Amino acid sequence: MELLTYHNRQLHFEGKPLKTLAEELGTPFFLLSEKRIRANYEALVRGLSSTELETRVRYCSKTNNEAAVLKILAACGSQVLVSHLAEAQLALDSGFSSHRIAYQRPVLREQDICELLSSGIDFLHAFRLADLEVMESAASRVGKKTRVSLRLRADSLARGFSPLAFLSRRLGIRKSEILTAAERIGRSRWLSLVGINFYQGTQQERVDRYLPLSRRALALAGQLHSQMGIRLEEINLGGGIPSPSLRRFGLLNAIAQSKNPRVSGDPVSNLERFARQLAAAFHREAQAAHLPSPPALAVEPGRAIAGNAGILVTRIRAITDNWLFLDASRNHLGESPVLLVREVVPVTPPDGGRRFYHLSGSTLNTMDFIGLWRRLPRVVEGDLLVLCDAGAYSISRASRYAGLSPAVYLVRDTGLLQIIRRAEALSDLSQILSE
Ligand SMILES: Cc1ncc(COP(=O)(O)O)c(C=O)c1O
Repeated sequence: MELLTYHNRQLHFEGKPLKTLAEELGTPFFLLSEKRIRANYEALVRGLSSTELETRVRYCSKTNNEAAVLKILAACGSQVLVSHLAEAQLALDSGFSSHRIAYQRPVLREQDICELLSSGIDFLHAFRLADLEVMESAASRVGKKTRVSLRLRADSLARGFSPLAFLSRRLGIRKSEILTAAERIGRSRWLSLVGINFYQGTQQERVDRYLPLSRRALALAGQLHSQMGIRLEEINLGGGIPSPSLRRFGLLNAIAQSKNPRVSGDPVSNLERFARQLAAAFHREAQAAHLPSPPALAVEPGRAIAGNAGILVTRIRAITDNWLFLDASRNHLGESPVLLVREVVPVTPPDGGRRFYHLSGSTLNTMDFIGLWRRLPRVVEGDLLVLCDAGAYSISRASRYAGLSPAVYLVRDTGLLQIIRRAEALSDLSQILSE
């Protein structure tokens, strides 16, 4: 299933000619595909359900929390992980029933938990032992039982010594404290322990990256059962399922990336294959752990669902040396282009030679670049480029630094083009609420 195809020497997005759209709508703009969001979700469900384990797919909504996107996933039957109160309300408004919503935040506030419980959302992640006291207090105030998943700290050596590994170690409960947390929950009449969750980091391109923490979580599930008689409902592998059309920057990828290849294979089938391999690997680990009844396999995909369902269409405003100055910027694609490399596709098909370009964003910030040493077809000022894999951590993270957020359009299953977010305007900047 191709999203982008050349037809009559023009690039089309699900049949929509991008040159014509850019002339009508103005650049830059985001374009999302309902079909691809649904196909990604369904590929994950199919792949993960390939073992006998029960599986739960919980979309991580901070990845792309456009109401239209949440509505599509709610209708597909997905669960959702929300990260703040407004997002919880948005999920409810978008059609997720409260029992399909989980809530996480690194530090819980009692007032927030009271509001969540009152709205029927009762599944919460605990990142710290102190969070359990907050939950207890809120649950007893509201008179509602609370289901808890403990966030296991990702501090295994397998995560390596990178700065990212160091930073992620600040989140979650140490392995040695999980049993203490379970005992605390066991003493409560309001809390029940439902699962253990962890987060390995985004865009994990190898299934074996999940194994050390999966083993650790399964071993803890075994201890909880044998020592305390607790049967965990689920082990949650968090996010990180990769978008098959994006690449982490690394030594092995570096040379290939500079050539800007199209990642081979159909991304939806590649995603299903990854999910199938992940489920099989987790299933093997669960069998080896000899639990009396294995917990369900839960995942919280974000990028894998939304990433390659979206593109950002941008125009080259000027060329200086080998720098292309675009009208899009890092405001719209906030993730580091040094860590993640996305495909760049010209709207008019290349027929001349290729050369190396750097892609500059439109703001006057030294770090506002979108790619370096990208080998692209020769382009001229005014040409249009498509920045692929722009559906995740883009619109939901956009800022208005030296610019305004662009409009977002959705191509519906029916082929209808729908505006789902208008571009920001001067009036969004010029409001003064009180003088
Ligand atoms: C706890 C948690 N789960 C899931 C995700 C989604 O991650 P990804 O987009 O890599 O799948 C995130 C994103 O940061 C997260 O913090």
